[in-house]
Amino acid sequence: MAGADAGFIAQNVYLYCAAAGLGTVVRGLVDRRTLAARLGLGPTQRITLAQTVGLPAR
Ligand SMILES: Cc1cc2nc3c(=O)[nH]c(=O)nc-3n(C[C@H](O)[C@H](O)[C@H](O)COP(=O)(O)O)c2cc1C
Repeated sequence: MAGADAGFIAQNVYLYCAAAGLGTVVRGLVDRRTLAARLGLGPTQRITLAQTVGLPAR
C-alpha cells in the first residue's frame, strides 16, 4: 500500500506542477541515508521516492 500511496502523491505533485507552470521529475536514486537524516526521519520511516520541483527548461 505504501508504494501505491507514493505513486498517488507523486502524481498529485505532477498535476500541481503542470497547473502552476513548474516542472518535476520523480527520483528513485536518492541518497536515502542523508535525506532521512536531514528530514529527521525515525527508524521506522522509509523514503520510497524523491521528487524534484523547479522551473522547467525553456
Ligand atoms: C519510479 C521512477 C524513478 C525514477 N528515478 C529516476 C532517478 O533516480 N534519476 C533520474 O534521473 N530519473 C529518474 N526517473 C526518470 C525521471 O523521473 C524523468 O522521467 C526523466 O528524468 C525524464 O524527464 P524529462 O522527460 O522531463 O526529460 C525515474 C522515473 C520513475 C518513473
